[in-house]
Amino acid sequence: QGDPRLKAISEAIRVVPHFPKPGIMFQDITTLLLDHKAFKDTVDIFVDRYRDMGISVVAGVEARGFMFGPSIALAIGAKFVPLRKPRKLPGEVISESYVLEYGKDCLEMHVGAVQPGEPALVIDDLVATGGTLSAAIRLLERAGAHVVECACVVGLREVKGQHGLNGKPLYILVEPR
Ligand code: PRP
Repeated sequence: QGDPRLKAISEAIRVVPHFPKPGIMFQDITTLLLDHKAFKDTVDIFVDRYRDMGISVVAGVEARGFMFGPSIALAIGAKFVPLRKPRKLPGEVISESYVLEYGKDCLEMHVGAVQPGEPALVIDDLVATGGTLSAAIRLLERAGAHVVECACVVGLREVKGQHGLNGKPLYILVEPR
């Protein structure tokens, strides 16, 4: 991609080898959040892409989807819906579990947060296996929302080719370094 902002966004993400365990190259977006221009460019690129798509729901995945989602939602005139880890939401929830490398986890959403037919965007900082985004898609679709696309700051291009996201398109800004 020819967008000159992407190089600076990529370079603003700190790579921490062997975190949280040996062999993992952790993509730390907290350093992106410290760089005002790179942070703003990241949000702006998403906002420019989604502003005229009729999206009324931006659903952010805990925890790092919460760092980008609300800014995008406000700018495109959508609501923000947090998709949370288990037992964090106080109201009635629907849940979707997903498989991790070691074990299982679960995302929950408040019943009534989205209405049937609402066009939704799912946002997270990073996609690796796609398991988390797939659970997010299932959750939204069970509530009747129409998932238009998933968006991540960092991701592996291979995930795109796997059709692992229930056939939903995936938009990624930069690849892991
Ligand atoms: C990370 C990341 C994504 C997910 C991607 O979150 O922020 O949500 O993993 O992995 P996947 O594509 O293989 O599903 P993590 O599970 O570390 O949770 P946290 O943000 O709450 O720390």
